[in-house]
Amino acid sequence: MKILVVGSGGRDHAIAWKFAQSPRVKKVFVAHGNAGISQVAECVDARTIEEMADFAEKEKIDLTFVGPEKPLSAGIVDLFNSKSIPIIGPDKRTSRLESSKCDTKVLLRELGIPVPEFAVFDDPERAREYVRSVGYQVVVKADGLAAGKGSLVCSNVEEAEEAIHLIMEKRIFGDSGNRVDIEKRLFGRELSFFCFTDGYTVLPMVAAQDYKRARDNDEGKNTGGMGSYSPHPWLTDELTEKIMSRVARPLIEGIRQKEKMIYKGVLYLGLMLVEEEGDITPYVLEINIRLGDPEAQVILPRLNTDIVDVCEKILEGQLHEIKLEWDPDYRLCLIAVSGRCKGKKGWYKGYPERYRIGVPIFGLENIDPSCLVFHSGTGFNESGQFITTGGRVFGIVSRGKTLQEAREVAYREMKKVSFEGMYYRSDIGLE
Ligand code: GLY
Repeated sequence: MKILVVGSGGRDHAIAWKFAQSPRVKKVFVAHGNAGISQVAECVDARTIEEMADFAEKEKIDLTFVGPEKPLSAGIVDLFNSKSIPIIGPDKRTSRLESSKCDTKVLLRELGIPVPEFAVFDDPERAREYVRSVGYQVVVKADGLAAGKGSLVCSNVEEAEEAIHLIMEKRIFGDSGNRVDIEKRLFGRELSFFCFTDGYTVLPMVAAQDYKRARDNDEGKNTGGMGSYSPHPWLTDELTEKIMSRVARPLIEGIRQKEKMIYKGVLYLGLMLVEEEGDITPYVLEINIRLGDPEAQVILPRLNTDIVDVCEKILEGQLHEIKLEWDPDYRLCLIAVSGRCKGKKGWYKGYPERYRIGVPIFGLENIDPSCLVFHSGTGFNESGQFITTGGRVFGIVSRGKTLQEAREVAYREMKKVSFEGMYYRSDIGLE
């Protein structure tokens, strides 16, 4: 089979690697990929969804798998379906589950799925009045897509007013800030929970712990994710069943019955597990319509079932025939980012703020082959050396019988790599 993976980050590298493992796959193409991805797949310079559809048609691609949310929200699935090119992912209308935080929260509440107390505003003055009145800490969320950085966690009213100003008036996320979803800040444990679904059957995957803040001890700004590990220590079979029965199945069934949406692809539930009177309630903080980055980097290596078989059954609407098999060993992903560094315009603070690119990377070839290396933002310079091209640069995925063992391996191997301004958190996997 010929596979096309859409994407160019670490998650998409992991997806391409996973397809390349399948005995059923002859060739993997990635649109548009990066230097690291070009080592496991052929990168194709198709940037728009129309160029991707043209390529898939010409190359007679058997299956396309979409990594990021943007092409899904732009309607890549609708376009491919109109040309009868097999593709995995929700269509444009269903993709609003991720591209409108406000509408999704309202829908979840209507479906009886646990969500934090929230209110939606398109007027900054009314939003400010609200945060002054509620008497609890809030999270202010831009309605639209914001590369994982659109949620501003606020400890007091002043921070909440500043968040409203930044999103709705200063427009730091552009039109994504036309509206905001203001939620009660919950305290508990965050869990990224993933399912495959064909719109009828919902199969839980294993869960992962993501680290969103830039600095140790969950300080600093929100990022796309600085590290991850799986299995998640809290996720028992009982809790999995609770998430399935209270969130995942009511959502997939609810949108099918109420909105006539047949969700085909990967469902990502961003949950806050809150202990209430001796019981755990899984509150939905966000819905994403794709695999997480860097969660996919630790989940896909644990998947023993052939991903091609899973995708085929999703397309046929026969996902109930699949039983997912998982490797029990831990995987830990440690992400190296472009940190504080002197650039042309003075000192840059580093990802997720301004960072420098084009910086040569040394030592990637020395990483122990027992680890996987997934590239997020790399290119080649004229002499064929890896250079940085993004904020997140690469991640090392280690394996261990325990979380501690996986952690030690990842940190030991990360020391073999260097580039100017390189930064990584020191507490990934530290429980
Ligand atoms: N790691 C968070 C995300 O993929 O959105």
